[in-house]
Amino acid sequence: MCGIVGYVGGRPAQGVVIEGLRRLEYRGYDSAGIALVDGGTIVSDKRAGKLANLEKAIGESPLPQVTTGIGHTRWATHGAPTDRNAHPHVSQHRRVAVVHNGILENFALLRAELEHAGVEMASETDTEVAAHLLERELETAPDLTVAMQRVCQRLEGAFTLVAVDALDPDRVVAARRNSPLVVGLGEGENFLGSDVAAFIEHTREALELGQDQVVTITREGVQVSGFDGSPAQGRQYHVDWDLSAAEKDGHDWFMRKEIFEQPRAVADSLLGRRGADGQLQLDEMRLSDQDLRDIDKIIIIAAGTSFYAGMVAKYAIEHWCRIPVEVELASEFRYRDPILTTDTLVVAISQSGETADTLQAIRHARVQRSKVLAICNTNGSTIPRESDGVIYTHAGPEIGVASTKGFLTQLVACYLLALYLAQIKGTRFGDEISQVMDQLDDMPGHVQTMLDKAEEVYALARDHVETRSVLFLGRHAGYPVALEGALKLKELAYIHAEGFAAGELKHGPIALVEEGLPVFCVVPPQGRDQLHDKMVSGIQEVRARGARTLCIAEEGDASIEPYADALITVPSVPVLLQPLVAVLPLQLFACELATLMGHDVDQPRNLAKSVTVE
Ligand code: G6P
Repeated sequence: MCGIVGYVGGRPAQGVVIEGLRRLEYRGYDSAGIALVDGGTIVSDKRAGKLANLEKAIGESPLPQVTTGIGHTRWATHGAPTDRNAHPHVSQHRRVAVVHNGILENFALLRAELEHAGVEMASETDTEVAAHLLERELETAPDLTVAMQRVCQRLEGAFTLVAVDALDPDRVVAARRNSPLVVGLGEGENFLGSDVAAFIEHTREALELGQDQVVTITREGVQVSGFDGSPAQGRQYHVDWDLSAAEKDGHDWFMRKEIFEQPRAVADSLLGRRGADGQLQLDEMRLSDQDLRDIDKIIIIAAGTSFYAGMVAKYAIEHWCRIPVEVELASEFRYRDPILTTDTLVVAISQSGETADTLQAIRHARVQRSKVLAICNTNGSTIPRESDGVIYTHAGPEIGVASTKGFLTQLVACYLLALYLAQIKGTRFGDEISQVMDQLDDMPGHVQTMLDKAEEVYALARDHVETRSVLFLGRHAGYPVALEGALKLKELAYIHAEGFAAGELKHGPIALVEEGLPVFCVVPPQGRDQLHDKMVSGIQEVRARGARTLCIAEEGDASIEPYADALITVPSVPVLLQPLVAVLPLQLFACELATLMGHDVDQPRNLAKSVTVE
């Protein structure tokens, strides 16, 4: 949500800022703007809609070639996505320009105070107050850094703010509280970004900032302080992916590229997990064996696709480790007064590591002195930083708003966690754990097998361009897959799509079935309890009522053929691991259908990649 870029250096800032905003487009936005510092004045332009609108406007009325600037892509919270409400916001006397991500919760009070003092507001945003407050502080503060420290002490809520002062052209100042911001360290130039994609083309050296910190970048250096002015330091790190990872690589969409990267992503997330003695090892775990042995309950918290990975994790952990697991939507968790003890392990699953609800949930858990483990893809993000341990998923940057390789690698991390707990608690024998690890090692190949069937799935998508409603059924670990398939279709094709546990069919959903309704059925592998057979009955029931059954079933499963209007086979794998292959046709289907419908697959309407406000 909201993309932020700041630059000071030797190159024309306009190019650096616009390019940075382009690389942050994936976060989701509905307007864009830029402000440059030009010899004592601020020049800016901002437009509703896509970045192309801003570029067109700049093309018609060019901005000066200067070397300090800030830019923003806005995902509207306060005020509609109009030119007026787009960022940057400029102060009353045009000395200060500000961009902001987050919500200033006390903005109404501050706005009233400013209006009382005679300031006329130019927008309906919460952000604008920050510009005016900074300008007023600059009347007494020695520089923008001190003004920012003072203003931040007055702000409530979550924010990343980035500002420039017309009278101090070689300085960009930023602040963060509960909202993402990283510094890019260059030679004779420095950068600010919501994430490293904003500057990856120029530098791979980054500085992670702590909570409630102000950072000042100039050409020569970077200075960090607390809101109270006390000196502070960020953590420097090297970004282990490069520009090519942030390019589409010949694909029409980042999402499609990321779908096809999944064999490698799964392999990378499995890499280096087995020690020389064959034991499973999780380097970034940081929780002691004793801590893990003491755990008597696990609560998994997550949002969106990550929540569905958590549902699969529940099945795996309970089966292999015999520890009770609850899976909870992060946005609900805090508000139900959850029972947390020092022996509760809270597992936060988040691709971005910045989802506001998930972050607040782990903070709540830590206050109750529960242990928190993050499963996360983004190095340097807030959730792993505030957790007691982390399992990084190593998927590489995920740009498409709809998560794909993020999901598969989260599943892998969840299986690894489950097996690791089983190893430590001794709930499974070493050779059983090894056997599952061997099965996981086969997964990149199986994922590739599924991707080789893309044309089959695309043909199915072509048959459904007129479809307005699709149901998804699954059982056991296939149930979260059904939910994920429905979510993908909602996100990308904007059609009614619902996932159900197949056993619930007769308790309501079957009433939705009518002639020709497409129903995806995720069929469990054969030969495990009655799971498979129950699913087959469910398929027969919807088909008898006119549904068009689109079945995803194990290869060689002859029992499905008579009842499948379309059949996509998946390699034979254990039921708990089946989500890793069963979800692929659903990802491909949603991506292709949305493409055929003419939708923007990478930036679906109203959605944001990283939801940084609650
Ligand atoms: C947003 C994204 C989803 C993602 C969810 C959770 O809604 O559009 O793709 O699953 O946030 O994000 P996280 O980064 O915490 O996994």
